[in-house]
Amino acid sequence: MSYMSRTLPMLEMVDATGPALARPQPADRLVEFATDDVVLPRFHVWTLGCQMNHSDSEEMAGSLLAAGCAKAPAMESADLIVINSCAIREAAEQKVIGRQGVLARLKSGNPALRVVLTGCSVRADNATTLKRRYPQVDLFLRPDQEPELTARLGLAGATAPGPFAVPDVIGRVGMSPVASADRLPGTRASAVSGSAIARGDKTSAWLPIIYGCDKTCTYCIVPFSRGPERSRPFDDVLAEARALAEAGYQEVTLLGQNVNSYGHDLAPEARFGDIRGERQLGRSLPLDGRPDIAALLRAIDGMRTYDGVPAIPRLRFVTSHPWDLTDRLIAAIAECPSVCEHLHLPVQSGDDGVLRRMGRQYTVAAYLELVERLRAAVPGISLTTDVICGFSGETEAAFERTLDLLRRVRYDQVFAAAFSVRPGTPAARLPDDVPAGEKKGRLNALLDLQETIGQERNDAWVGRSTEVLVEEVRPTPSHGHDEPDPVDSAAPRLSGRNREHKLVHLSGHADLVGRRVMVRVERAGPYALSGSLDA
Ligand code: SAM
Ligand code: SF4
Ligand code: F3S
Repeated sequence: MSYMSRTLPMLEMVDATGPALARPQPADRLVEFATDDVVLPRFHVWTLGCQMNHSDSEEMAGSLLAAGCAKAPAMESADLIVINSCAIREAAEQKVIGRQGVLARLKSGNPALRVVLTGCSVRADNATTLKRRYPQVDLFLRPDQEPELTARLGLAGATAPGPFAVPDVIGRVGMSPVASADRLPGTRASAVSGSAIARGDKTSAWLPIIYGCDKTCTYCIVPFSRGPERSRPFDDVLAEARALAEAGYQEVTLLGQNVNSYGHDLAPEARFGDIRGERQLGRSLPLDGRPDIAALLRAIDGMRTYDGVPAIPRLRFVTSHPWDLTDRLIAAIAECPSVCEHLHLPVQSGDDGVLRRMGRQYTVAAYLELVERLRAAVPGISLTTDVICGFSGETEAAFERTLDLLRRVRYDQVFAAAFSVRPGTPAARLPDDVPAGEKKGRLNALLDLQETIGQERNDAWVGRSTEVLVEEVRPTPSHGHDEPDPVDSAAPRLSGRNREHKLVHLSGHADLVGRRVMVRVERAGPYALSGSLDA
């Protein structure tokens, strides 16, 4: 058997608006797969951005492992670096642009090294500028092309079902060409049935249920990078959930940019005949007879062990858009024992004028009404949100109204960022008229207010007992005022989350990782709780 290092063939990316890629000829692929003669590349996947990207990376890593490649211990020792990028703000893109020098040095030390860039920075409308921005990248793949990774690298087995069987689909958002997620439900199903998903965790799993985004937020790049909403078939999602339950997963998070609009694009079926409705907010949408997220939550919750308890003890879902927060969904959260008492419901601003320019298509009053309904149906539910500071035309008074909203809702956590203009989005045509220093000042003021609210909300947990799913042994002690130390400092420092998604630190044995334990909360900071195992 002879071994030689091999330079990966990079099949050129076609013009995104051009014809579908030709399927490689069987003869070439067989030569490519003369595995006796080659050393398969060791790969490293660098993931930026949201949970959706992390889930996609699990799928790409799974496909590389299934092709026979091994994980490299670090980027420096890899022959193949896959960068799964985020474009939500300019700063996220700069993280990758800023690494081009490091990648150039790695390439000069290892001429066989190849770099793939995928994720939201690669879009159907920016193919011509990518090479200039990312000079060290050899292959660009849009998010909808990620299932082609191994084939484009010449690594897919000759008998593997080709990702090219379904042609490339390009749609439009306004004037811009966008990729469509049409193929992803099918490729996900193949990855699940082929056990080709390298899940990063043995306790908690991501489960994508809908791809893309149909919403109208003027500041956001996601509809341009991920295309329109495409739901996975109901039974495919259930099959994946069942497999996760059988594998002993304690927690499953259903994923999508707008997970609560799940199902509107699926065909009506008699078994969903009791589902009736029309969206109350945003673009009108008839929902009759189609599966929805409430039906999905109830079906997954309905998977029970012999003792009658939910086979997946904790069920979560992110992210929810106010348009699709129906009474059916609120009732499912309230009635399904496995569905956790936490909802991430991005508000973005507390000012109606700003919300209108953002294209969010709800008012502050409509949002507050949803919060009221939620809290009435699920007492104690924890609420988190996203806010953008300094959007176009945001006056000091408009910003004050956002602070008022925070005081009124009293969120458990707020993820806030300064507005970052994304070229190609509708808001890029609006004036970016809040100076950078002012955006930063408002962001800091908002975070300061939320720190006080977070502390007060967390103080209310002291003395209570709460169920924690232990996630990890914390590597280094932290003495930050926001992370209260566990009481017994001699025992390993563990951390996990309760059902309300609060970060909880505790001391205990490392073998508790992956288990649900009861913890008595003894201290609270604005961002975390700490306590001891409850006897
Ligand atoms: N789909 C979710 C929703 O309904 O809002 C969130 C998706 S987005 C990945 C996460 C957050 O990024 C948004 O909620 C928003 O607050 C923030 N974001 C998006 N575009 C932004 C921009 N151009 N500048 C600053 N923040 C932005
Ligand atoms: Fe972006 Fe709005 Fe879609 Fe969320 S709902 S991904 S913020 S366009
Ligand atoms: Fe970023 Fe794309 Fe997620 S822009 S936040 S990785 S959907």
